[in-house]
Amino acid sequence: MPGYHVTTFGCQMNEHDSERMKGMLESLGYEERPARADADLILFNTCSIREKADERFVAHLQEARAIKRRRPETVVGVGGCWAQSVKDEVFRRFPFVDVAFGPGQVHKLAEFLTSDSLTAQGFFEFEGFTGHLPEKRAREFQGWLQISVGCNCRCAYCIVPSTRGREVSRPAAELVAEVRRMASEGVREVTLLGQNVNSYGRDLRPRASFAVLLSAIDAVEGIARIRYTSPHPKDMREDVARAHAELPAVCEHVHLPLQSGSSRILKAMRRTYGRERYLDRVRLIREHVPDVALTTDVIVGFPGETEADFRETLEVVEDVGYDGAFTFIYSPRRGTEAAQLDGRIEHAVAVERMERLVEVVQRRAHERAQRFVGRTLEVLVEGPSRTDPARLRGRTRHNKVVNFAGDARPGDLVEVRIDSATSQTLAGGQMKGGHLSATAFLPSLA
Ligand code: 5AD
Ligand code: SF4
Repeated sequence: MPGYHVTTFGCQMNEHDSERMKGMLESLGYEERPARADADLILFNTCSIREKADERFVAHLQEARAIKRRRPETVVGVGGCWAQSVKDEVFRRFPFVDVAFGPGQVHKLAEFLTSDSLTAQGFFEFEGFTGHLPEKRAREFQGWLQISVGCNCRCAYCIVPSTRGREVSRPAAELVAEVRRMASEGVREVTLLGQNVNSYGRDLRPRASFAVLLSAIDAVEGIARIRYTSPHPKDMREDVARAHAELPAVCEHVHLPLQSGSSRILKAMRRTYGRERYLDRVRLIREHVPDVALTTDVIVGFPGETEADFRETLEVVEDVGYDGAFTFIYSPRRGTEAAQLDGRIEHAVAVERMERLVEVVQRRAHERAQRFVGRTLEVLVEGPSRTDPARLRGRTRHNKVVNFAGDARPGDLVEVRIDSATSQTLAGGQMKGGHLSATAFLPSLA
């Protein structure tokens, strides 16, 4: 059997796409090999969101070149957003690459592998959902659901509209059928994926809405948890906030990307909301789900960001009190509007702002996490704890990682009493029949 090895960079959509690549390769008779050096087909699913992502990937690609030098019949393939953003340039810069394809052309990989062409080929049309390909799930109890591809927003900093094309939604009936199939195979938690999930369905005829899709998926038997990423604050409406409150499977967590707390910078970013509108959305969500966990993305050092703008970001982060945040230093991306803007922020200034931001994010997340101490929460078990294999690791509905003493298998839903909380993780012991389980008292082996 020929063997393949896939390395995935970037977001959850890429993780999804890689599972589909693997499913497709296995249906062609390939098997997965744990080491790159043992694979006949070396694949990279790439990301281009920030410059760092590009750099990391190029180092890996050089390793593939070394393997190919030793075994020239090895096929090297590069898919995903980076490949799309540099298109045919890939072959000029990296002549040992045999096939390159964008996120909309994963299915063409099969065509390439079954053809006898020896020349390098590139596939960069926007067509087809990777969600139509067979999948090989990393965990049998967690499934991705690609509800749409592409993005119609024009955020000035973002490369994604150019790498993933215009937004196209998949019909709701097809999605529900896919979730039913996943549930019958043991999936308990499904994560809906799209670049802007809550604009889902506006391109369909008849039109569909994200909130209605949530309720249709909630009704599928066996699905205990529904998550989604990412929504855009401009499209976050009351029907979705209500869905969190009313639909039992929809988790108490919303990732609501802020990007900046300054209305002036938000305007330059073309986010189409200001600080007040964003805070209104937060109030709306909390009105319906008071205990909701909110997480966010923030960019510091966008061109023209003054100290006063940045302080507004700090204020919003302080006021909202996020349960967690991903923080990024602005990175100019080829072909984007912001890459042409004046007012570049010096790197040292951006780093200093980032440090101040992280301090507030962590302090607030730590404070927020204390509300879980003493409570018993439902945890979906993922496997052994990363720091202490004698303990287990799982996630709450709020998307908090919990390390706990107990005995359960991956995929089990268990009750865990929370004893302590940091900004990142919770710790506790499994409950059985209203009491701590016997194993919860065993001393840790670490
Ligand atoms: N520079 C820095 N961060 C960026 N993001 C997107 N584009 C850029 C960029 N050019 C961040 C945004 C987005 C997250 C996925 O990555 O915060 O929400
Ligand atoms: Fe990276 Fe964005 Fe593409 Fe995801 S959609 S792989 S984050 S560039």
